[in-house]
Amino acid sequence: MTDHQLKELLDQMTLEEKTGQLVQLATPFFEGASDRGQITGPMQDMGISDEDIKKAGSVLGASGASEIKNIQKKHLENHRLSIPLLIMSDIVHGFKTIFPVPLAIGCSWDVELAEQSSAIAAKEAAVSGVHVSFAPMVDLSRDPRWGRVMESTGEDPFLNSTFARAFVRGFQGNLESDNYKVAACVKHFAAYGAPEGGRDYNTVDMSEWMLRESYLPAYKAALDEGCEMVMTAFNILNGIPSTGNKALMRDLLREEWGFDGVLISDWGAVKELLPHGVAANEKEAAEQALKAGVDIEMMTSCYVNHISELIEEGKLTEDLVDEAVLRILTLKKKLGLFENPYRDADEEAEKEFILSAEHRAAARNLASKSIVLLKNEDVLPLKKEKIALIGPFSNSTDILGPWSWAGAPEDTITLDQGMKNHVTEDQLLISNGCEIETGTEEQLQEAVEKAKQADTIVLAIGEHSDMSGEAGSRAEITIPKVQVDLLKKIKALGKPVVAVLFNGRPLDVKEIIENADAVVEAWYPGTEGGNALADILFGEVNPSAKLSMSFPYSIGQVPVYYNNYNTGRPKDAPDAQVRYVSQYLDNPNEALFPFGYGLSYSNFEYSEPVLSSETITKEEPLRVRLNVKNTSDTAGEETVQLYVRDLVGQVVRPLKELKDFKKIYLEARETRQIEFTISEEQLRYHHADMEYKSDAGEFEVFVGGNSRDVQSKKFNLSD
Ligand code: NOJ
Repeated sequence: MTDHQLKELLDQMTLEEKTGQLVQLATPFFEGASDRGQITGPMQDMGISDEDIKKAGSVLGASGASEIKNIQKKHLENHRLSIPLLIMSDIVHGFKTIFPVPLAIGCSWDVELAEQSSAIAAKEAAVSGVHVSFAPMVDLSRDPRWGRVMESTGEDPFLNSTFARAFVRGFQGNLESDNYKVAACVKHFAAYGAPEGGRDYNTVDMSEWMLRESYLPAYKAALDEGCEMVMTAFNILNGIPSTGNKALMRDLLREEWGFDGVLISDWGAVKELLPHGVAANEKEAAEQALKAGVDIEMMTSCYVNHISELIEEGKLTEDLVDEAVLRILTLKKKLGLFENPYRDADEEAEKEFILSAEHRAAARNLASKSIVLLKNEDVLPLKKEKIALIGPFSNSTDILGPWSWAGAPEDTITLDQGMKNHVTEDQLLISNGCEIETGTEEQLQEAVEKAKQADTIVLAIGEHSDMSGEAGSRAEITIPKVQVDLLKKIKALGKPVVAVLFNGRPLDVKEIIENADAVVEAWYPGTEGGNALADILFGEVNPSAKLSMSFPYSIGQVPVYYNNYNTGRPKDAPDAQVRYVSQYLDNPNEALFPFGYGLSYSNFEYSEPVLSSETITKEEPLRVRLNVKNTSDTAGEETVQLYVRDLVGQVVRPLKELKDFKKIYLEARETRQIEFTISEEQLRYHHADMEYKSDAGEFEVFVGGNSRDVQSKKFNLSD
């Protein structure tokens, strides 16, 4: 289909058919769906008729080639102009082969593997009939109370942007010519990751400067990579709900950034303009959202029920509707749906690709690179002696994490299964010890008895996956008390204890660190999680992951992030007073584990950085050289990180900002020379008037294996 034909199609459409394109409803609403259940009720409540459904433009949440083909076939038969449906789903960290949660992927710092993970997710989803994935979620996250931090790659704008690009490349490839690709939808625009108090959906209020400096870059990076769609956010931003925010969407996203793809509301967010208190009724909500630039309304019926009335009353023009419809039709055209409405949906390909050995191997590899070693007092790797595996996650399949709705427990490798591949049955004693939030004396006693018979204890503890994710905010971010008590009881036996943590956010882990000899942050590692963990625990894979989000010392410090600003009274200044400095009286200022932190079974030693010159110019970048030596007898991977500080800016500058990183593999005792370059472009920032430029003057460059333990040198940027 040509662009001209697309316009002709638009000309043939009635207003009702156009409005239909702006509607997205869940699978059970559609004829041909395998489970239509009690859909009649919800349809009536929403004021949606069978005729409306026949004109709808897209489906949410469908999966499975045969069901989707049925829905599409029925729809084409019912639609006067045979306009195919777009099928959209949340394919966030894998489809049926589940990869680690995105926060864990962030900890891999492995951009290629991240791209591979979304390419595999796209392939499995595409053969199952999906056209659009509601991912990547790139909301910058600094508050671990917010349950959705597990969906983002963390707290750093540069790292998040790098991953945003990688995920988009993996999902989309060349959408128009490649097979097994899906369109990506970056979300949630904007700043959904900064709700007050970490409570989901809550108020966001932030300066334009902060927004542009820290929160917007990752969305922009996804769009620069060609991301086809954007989803709005639930939160208000500076007083106006994102979903009705014209300044955010028409002015910034469309005008300034030139985005001409499809903008979809988040689930029910158009109608939520009512409880937000900016629209008196659904008609006003429809008017605001469409004027603000929202093309598709997800799961509510303000558009379908009110657009024609709004046009009759002269409150909306049909041009605005045409513009939105054309964008949706253009995406359908790009996906080739007018020629082949089923695209890659194929039952045979489903059997061949889904959960294939290749996909599982990729999931295992990425999981092992996402698991962060937080502490190790000579306990790991495990020796193949008698091991007690204790705790509610010992044999739990709840290790896929939120947004793994297509992943099945029976396909999941649990920790005990993974460990059984390394030791004999009688070397491994297994006991749950307690449930996640409750426990009995009997369970505890059984665990203690098993632990007594072992040489080393592996304690698998954590959060239930419902304790994070959407609507999974927590005010107390510790491991539930019953599990901490279990750890203490086991520790009292005086044997080495390795704690393996399963959770969706940085937790307050002080008590765990105090009581365990080694601590492994497994996050939710996905389908192959048990194998990946066993690989790490037994030393077949050397841990290499580094935190992409700081672990707070206590909840009272939150938000605590590495790229913060100085105050006028820094605690560590040479002339700092005892009291009147920026500090807590009862806590350190620093995180317990900083951004970029993670141990290995190797030891890496960094030389001082050497600069190519003291002064750099706009034309001549700076070269920063250093040597990294593996001083151990174990080969391993290290992520060498480079940070910069602008010492005097027109506005304040972060104490450190990640500018680059390199992952290197070093054989035992090997030394490698690393070279980074820093160009003037990397030193730019938003000034008070939002101009993005650099300032001449003094800078500091830092290199190291995490954001805290660094060596630094100063340099100048000349005019
Ligand atoms: C609500 C979530 O906020 C969003 O991320 C998701 O894509 C939609 N629901 C659709 O499931």
